[in-house]
Amino acid sequence: MVCLGNICRSPLAEGVLRQKIEEYNIKNIEVDSCGTSNYHIGQAPDQRTQDNALQNGTNLSQLRARQFEVSDFDRFDKIYVMDSSNKSNVLELARNEADKNKVDLFLNIRYPNQNLQVPDPYFGGEQGFQNVYKLVDETCEALIS
Ligand code: 4NP
Repeated sequence: MVCLGNICRSPLAEGVLRQKIEEYNIKNIEVDSCGTSNYHIGQAPDQRTQDNALQNGTNLSQLRARQFEVSDFDRFDKIYVMDSSNKSNVLELARNEADKNKVDLFLNIRYPNQNLQVPDPYFGGEQGFQNVYKLVDETCEALIS
């Protein structure tokens, strides 16, 4: 799960998916998240994201931001990006077609081929965080299915 800062959208996607994997007792799946930028390396998720997630039953307090690295293409089968600028940033680091083919917009899981983006809630108000939670939750549910 990849976004820009790894403090709002992608840690939420990681946390929600981890929770569902546990709930549905799914084995043999590794989940992680990161950001394309180095802005927030080592930081816990944004307090507003954490507060909203907790209101919805998801605790993100243990997560810490890291930056996307080329070796992530080797570690993961799928790389889900939250928006099209995240996608360009990740594709710039791809070494070959196989790397590129791993990258897809996260919302294409729930809304195939529509190329919808998870809006960045960082500069907005409270409703933005709830909107993102709902999108992420229903998309992780679709991923599990
Ligand atoms: P995220 O949100 O990419 O969903 O983690 C952002 C976090 C930080 C910044 C931008 C977006 N920033 O500019 O610091």
